[in-house]
Amino acid sequence: MSAGKRVLLIVSGGIAAYKALELIRLLRRAGCAVTCVLTENGGQFVTPLSLQALSESKVYTDLFSLTDESEMGHIQLSRAADLLVVAPATANILAKMAAGLADDLASTVLLATDKPVLVAPAMNVRMWLHPATQANMKTLEQRGVQVVQPGEGAMACNEFGPGRLAEPPEILAAIESLLNPAPGPLSGRHALVTSGPTHEPIDPVRYLANRSSGRQGHAIAAALAALGARVTLVSGPVAIGDPPGVEVHRVETAEQMLAACRAALPADVAVFAAAVADWRVDHAAAQKIKKQPGAAPPALTLVPNPDILAAIAAPGAQRPRLVVGFAAETADLMANAQAKLTRKNADWIVANDVSPETGIMGGAENAVHILSAAGVESWPLLPKQAVADRLAGRIAEALSRD
Ligand code: CTP
Repeated sequence: MSAGKRVLLIVSGGIAAYKALELIRLLRRAGCAVTCVLTENGGQFVTPLSLQALSESKVYTDLFSLTDESEMGHIQLSRAADLLVVAPATANILAKMAAGLADDLASTVLLATDKPVLVAPAMNVRMWLHPATQANMKTLEQRGVQVVQPGEGAMACNEFGPGRLAEPPEILAAIESLLNPAPGPLSGRHALVTSGPTHEPIDPVRYLANRSSGRQGHAIAAALAALGARVTLVSGPVAIGDPPGVEVHRVETAEQMLAACRAALPADVAVFAAAVADWRVDHAAAQKIKKQPGAAPPALTLVPNPDILAAIAAPGAQRPRLVVGFAAETADLMANAQAKLTRKNADWIVANDVSPETGIMGGAENAVHILSAAGVESWPLLPKQAVADRLAGRIAEALSRD
């Protein structure tokens, strides 16, 4: 099943490092190519030579090795892999991953990668149960890192409890399911999602923007990817991380967002969750606008931005089969949303009340109504990820119907 897949195995220091040797044997037997990175502490427990003999591939240990960097830079190491596996993962390397430290080859590769990461923790029971380790695990899981939970049992340090490295066949099973995900209801479909605000420059240091955090759009991109879709996310400037398994195109202005959306077509479904600035400054100044003593503040002439949703939803060969827009309103929610459905030629409008007292704009929860030709469906107040999951489910249903 996994034949031809490439695994980058990071072996960190711990008595359980010997089990990495068995894992390599199982992976090779399953047809995977395995490249190992051994940390300095890992090298106290297993030798590069044994990893190399079993993986039949060069073992990397040093961040600043001139020969290694010229053959295979540390960024290339993760690019060349389908999956990164840390086994055993010590409390130390997990803490480094959670904090974003990059002080050796293993932690640098883990920070630089955009590939899925699986960790198999192994440590003393007290280290595992320590709130610091548990908080680090939570952080990593929230970021999409997959975990093979440690087992419970007698430990090398004469204690008993959770912290033992999972057995190699169990780690192999987790690797295989990540390398060969079951086809989701949206597999084979391409989804385009816009998210975040746009920034419209006034001069090189100032811009017009809005309060969108990108949370709802990013959550929708993640939910569609989780159902198997290939997802292109066109995002304005946001302070949140990229959703796992999604191709992200970063833009600043509405015009750039439209160009990136057009370039991403064809798509089966497009979801426009971005809070696009409706206007931009007619001529952004090339230099920073300076205050002139006694002079009036500068007048900004605004011109309308393109409507990205309306442009992509316009009838034509490139129109996605399902076009979903949002309506962020502070008054007359339903009437305004209904008008947007027709005006923008959308199939569905996800309407939400973004009055400041709702805390929805930039917040963690959302209460939405789904408007379509079939009528209105109102959902309760839900975390933005739950709204995204429901919406992705509805999209999968709709696309399977025709
Ligand atoms: N939208 C877009 N491009 C724009 C403006 C809006 O793609 N230039 C999309 C949004 O992503 C959203 C929908 O259109 O899916 C509605 O956005 P909203 O800001 O609620 O509506 P506007 O068209 O901007 O109308 P108004 O500001 O008058 O409410």
